[in-house]
Amino acid sequence: MGPSRDSLPLLVPAVVALAALMRLSDGKLELKVSQPSVEVMFHENGLLQCEIAELTGSTLSANNLGVLWAFTSDTGNSKPFVYMHGVINEQWKEAELSESSILSGNMSLLLKSVTFKHTGQYRCDVFISPNYKASKTIKLEVLARPTVTVVSEKIVEVGTGGEMALGCQLSGYYPCDSNAEWLQSTPSQGETKLLTDICIAPPVKNPDGTCNVTTEVRLEPHVEDIGSTFQCRVTHKTFSEPYLVTAFVTLKEAEIRLATGSIVGSIIASIIISVAVIATGIFLYMRLYYKVAPEVSDIQIPARIVHLEPAEIICHVSGFRPDVILVSWYLKTCKDSGKEFIGDWQKDNMVRIPFVTDRKIEISERIETGRGWKVKPGISQKNGDGSFSISSILEIYPDINEHNKAEITCEVSHPASSEVISKSICLQVEGVAPKLAKIIGPHIVHHNNSVVLTCPIHFFKPRPLRITWYKEMNGKKESLLKLSESKDHFYSNKYSHVANEFSFSDHSHSVYSMLFFNPTIKEDDQSEYFCEVEHISLRNPAKEQIKLQVKAFPSVNAISCEPVNPVIEEKLTLSCKVHSFYPETIIIQWLKDNKVIEGAETSEVILNLENKLYELTSSCTIIPTLLERQSKYKCQVDHQSLLYPRFAEYTPENLVSFPILSEIVCNPAIPEPGKELTLTCDISNFYPEDIQIDWFRDEMKVNDNPKYGNIVEIPSDENGLYKKVTQVTLTPSTDDHQAEYKIEVCHTKSSTKPLKQCFQLFFKGSPKFSEFKLEPENPLYGKPLSVYHSVCGLLHEKITVEWYKASEHVKDGVKISGPVVTHENTYKIDSCLNFLVTAEDFERELIFQFKDNTKSEVFKRRIQLPLKAVVPKVTEIKCDPPHPKKGGNATLTCKIEHFCPVDIHVVWSKGWTEYKNKQIVETPKIDAKGLYSTITKLPIVVGAGSEEYTCEIRHTKTNDIVEKTFILQI
Ligand SMILES: *[C@@H]1O[C@H](CO)[C@@H](O)[C@H](O)[C@H]1NC(C)=O
Ligand SMILES: *[C@@H]1O[C@H](CO)[C@@H](O)[C@H](O)[C@H]1NC(C)=O
Repeated sequence: MGPSRDSLPLLVPAVVALAALMRLSDGKLELKVSQPSVEVMFHENGLLQCEIAELTGSTLSANNLGVLWAFTSDTGNSKPFVYMHGVINEQWKEAELSESSILSGNMSLLLKSVTFKHTGQYRCDVFISPNYKASKTIKLEVLARPTVTVVSEKIVEVGTGGEMALGCQLSGYYPCDSNAEWLQSTPSQGETKLLTDICIAPPVKNPDGTCNVTTEVRLEPHVEDIGSTFQCRVTHKTFSEPYLVTAFVTLKEAEIRLATGSIVGSIIASIIISVAVIATGIFLYMRLYYKVAPEVSDIQIPARIVHLEPAEIICHVSGFRPDVILVSWYLKTCKDSGKEFIGDWQKDNMVRIPFVTDRKIEISERIETGRGWKVKPGISQKNGDGSFSISSILEIYPDINEHNKAEITCEVSHPASSEVISKSICLQVEGVAPKLAKIIGPHIVHHNNSVVLTCPIHFFKPRPLRITWYKEMNGKKESLLKLSESKDHFYSNKYSHVANEFSFSDHSHSVYSMLFFNPTIKEDDQSEYFCEVEHISLRNPAKEQIKLQVKAFPSVNAISCEPVNPVIEEKLTLSCKVHSFYPETIIIQWLKDNKVIEGAETSEVILNLENKLYELTSSCTIIPTLLERQSKYKCQVDHQSLLYPRFAEYTPENLVSFPILSEIVCNPAIPEPGKELTLTCDISNFYPEDIQIDWFRDEMKVNDNPKYGNIVEIPSDENGLYKKVTQVTLTPSTDDHQAEYKIEVCHTKSSTKPLKQCFQLFFKGSPKFSEFKLEPENPLYGKPLSVYHSVCGLLHEKITVEWYKASEHVKDGVKISGPVVTHENTYKIDSCLNFLVTAEDFERELIFQFKDNTKSEVFKRRIQLPLKAVVPKVTEIKCDPPHPKKGGNATLTCKIEHFCPVDIHVVWSKGWTEYKNKQIVETPKIDAKGLYSTITKLPIVVGAGSEEYTCEIRHTKTNDIVEKTFILQI
């Protein structure tokens, strides 16, 4: 989770899109620093290393990355480098860190030519919005190596009682801790001794912060010291081992000389001493007994006092004597009625006689208050006139809520003044105004897809903050939500909000205000979203904005084609519907194998009033050839909402070509009975190859009936299209006279309707037979029927006409009229057969036979009556006698009536026992209804108890089964 997501409850709204955050926070961020502490030589470059060691769950980009280098030292805080969302907000001029380096994960800061003001703590904060933050701290110490100079005389004469001085000067070094000692090595004595009569002045500070110090040694050399060497041994943090410098001094024996100079010298010296004693007297009087009251100047405060940042308030007290003083600090806030004591600083050292003027005196006592305010040890100075000055420093740590407009008083008490001198000042505590970075969010958003706009608000203090989101569209302003400490207010439930807050060590805060919503074209296209922030340190609200363009992706439907089964070399229209896009501008292109087809038609874009989105249908007409059946046709759509064009694809793989049937050709052209003939039909031009060919003779399939002919198929192909020649070979008989041969071709790929061709066999010179005519058309059992048939085209009258039922010659009910001459000068004969239809006529052929008495040929015309099978009706089983006695005989009877055809199967049984041998089935007879009826019987011997008998009758033709049961009771 983010470091402080919960630390700003005021900003966490009622509706939290937690899911989005969970997803974001699966990874981690870790930093690497080489050493926690770095030492750099003065004026050299220092590298503060800070690199991303590990980052998962996010990537670096200018949009989401923030880098903050914070610096803390004894003298204050500042920010050497601040980078936020692609902008370097702050940078010391000596600090070097490039954006490219940051984006590659290297946040190391290079400080050029460091000086002592760079000494302190550096913190590298890296945050990746909205959820990661990591920090590392590095201590930087700036060092300077001392320049060591040894000062000495070149030659010193020993034995004259004179002194020699050796000076070891260390200059320009840092830190100011150092040590210099003098060593004397005397080879004759074989020893090295440390010289103890040394005098070390306190180190002096150079303006650049480095120190100088001189260590002086005085000694009275003796004869035995001749040959000695003197070395200054320096220890300092910058030397790993003590550093030795040898003095160029030679000791030698003295020559005898006159000493007049020293007498004159002692007279002058005594005069100087007398003057000095008098001067000292006056000085001591002025110092100890002459009192002067102090003067207190106005309190000095820094130009800006910032909330929760330390500040120093200085009270200058000057020109007082003696060196005794009490400075007290008080605070009076707006709330409190009285003033509150903060701390004081006191000095009452009456007896110290300083050797050096302008010497700084450190006071070690510190007074602390509960808030971390403290009176710092002041700097006391002795002025040239013997009076003293002091600056008392109060370090405060103001809180804007408590200390703004508070009064701070500095009170000074001194023995020369009977009253307390006081000075007051009113504090103006300021906050730090938030800095808004550009709103992070996509400029192009998709209709009805979820979007997050993130408003980064940085480095403000104190809390709280008031954030308002609003949008402007067509000059109309609409408030979306208001977030403040006390209350969050959502104006529309379209929006939800999440705030992520980070706190920094300087008590400043950053907040990422994230607005979640689903933009729509109607409500959000070309709208501007504003994030407005109000803060105590802002006179006017700060705001950032982002303009949204809402787009809707076009949807491309599958290509439809007309006709559905495209025909080779015929016009084919492809249509593609593109819908639900916005804005209106769209580019549609038709491509064939990725090459643009010119002249494709495109219909006009229309606005769908229901969803306010656009749509159109584009069509393209092509003439596909067989070779192009693998070609890919594309309807390609390009629109500003798309990164890549979308398309629908179509391949005319199902190209078809309709078969073409030739006429049926007969060979020989004039068939004769008893002479082999061939019927031929060419089927060509079809595609694909699958085809079903059937020959029929008078509606009967030739394929199933070899007596109707033999079929041969010869396949071939031409230009990729298929062709078949089919032939039926037969030797016709007189029965085939007037038979109709028909071919049916079914090419299901191109059409569901079969193609047909017919050919009627007609023997030359043969009469022409009519169709049979039935009256009534649908004959009924037990009802009379007339069957008519006529023959025409007879050349003479010598003919015989007869009727048969199967092989039985029928004479009754036959009526023959003619032959009569027709107007074509041929003869015609009509015949009619009348009879009562019975079950015997079921599936029995009726034959009309014609014989030309001058020829041997006999023509037979056949018809089967369209009669239906009828299932039997079975009566209940009857017992005779009805109430038989145990052990007596009885007969069970069952009537089976009105069925057709005749075949039935009867089985009597009792339980599992069948009585096939005992049962009697009478031969069925035609009944009054013209159908069959019969009776079945079973003679039984009556047993004990009740017995169940069953009679099962199955009608063979219809497979109808009737079961009758009889329970015999005694
Ligand atoms: C990071 O940057 C610093 C300064 O530019 C450079 O000295 C250092 O080698 C870089 N580190 C890596 C790992 O590239
Ligand atoms: C310290 O020493 C350097 C070199 O000897 C000299 O130039 C400088 O003035 C000295 N600084 C002080 C404050 O005496």
